[in-house]
Amino acid sequence: MKSLAIFISGRGSNMQAIVTACKDGILKGLAQPILVFSNKEEAAGLAYAQKAGIPTEVIISKGKDRKTFDQEVVKMLHQYQPDYIILAGYMRILSSYFIQQFPNKIINIHPADTTLHQGLDGYNWAFDKKLTTTKITVHFVDEGLDTGRIIKQEVVDLSGVSSLEDVEQRGLAVEHKVYSQALKEIILDHS
Ligand code: GRF
Repeated sequence: MKSLAIFISGRGSNMQAIVTACKDGILKGLAQPILVFSNKEEAAGLAYAQKAGIPTEVIISKGKDRKTFDQEVVKMLHQYQPDYIILAGYMRILSSYFIQQFPNKIINIHPADTTLHQGLDGYNWAFDKKLTTTKITVHFVDEGLDTGRIIKQEVVDLSGVSSLEDVEQRGLAVEHKVYSQALKEIILDHS
C-alpha cells in the first residue's frame, strides 16, 4: 500500500476524487491518503479531509520566501514519510530544494496538454483558442514549469461549449477520473 500526501490550496475536488478512489474505487488496496496539506488555512478542501478522518497540516506560505517555506514543509513531511506527494490544485511553485528531496515522487495534474500550454489558466487557454478538444495531463514534477515526464493524458471533448464554465466542468470531470487512473498505473509499475 502506497501512502499519499495530497497538497491543496483551495477547493480540493481532485483530492476528494482521489480519497474516494482510495476508499471505494480503483485505488482501494493500492494507496491511502495519510495527509492533506495546504499552504492556505482557508482552503475549502481541508474541511472535507478532516471529516474523512485524514490528518491535515497547514503551513501558511504568504510572506515567506520559497526556500524557507519549503524547508518548513519538508520538515513537517518527515513525520509522515509519504511514498508520493500528490499536487492537486497546489498553487505554489516548488523550489529546487523541495523537488530534490523527493525525486520521482511528486506528481501533478495540469488542466491542459503540458507540451502545448504550461503555467496557469489551462482552461482559459483552451476556451480562448476555441479548441474543440483539450487534454488533461498527469505528470511527474521536475524543476521546470510543467515540464516533467508525462504519466498519462486524457482528451476532453469541448465541442459545442459556450462558456469557460462549460470548459471547466467538462475538464474537471475528466481530471477526477484520470488522476486516480494515472496513480494506479504508477503504483502498479513500481510494485
Ligand atoms: C484543477 O483544474 C487542476 O488541474 C489545477 O487546479 C485545479 C484544482 O482544482 N492544477 P481542485 O482544487 O482540485 O478542485
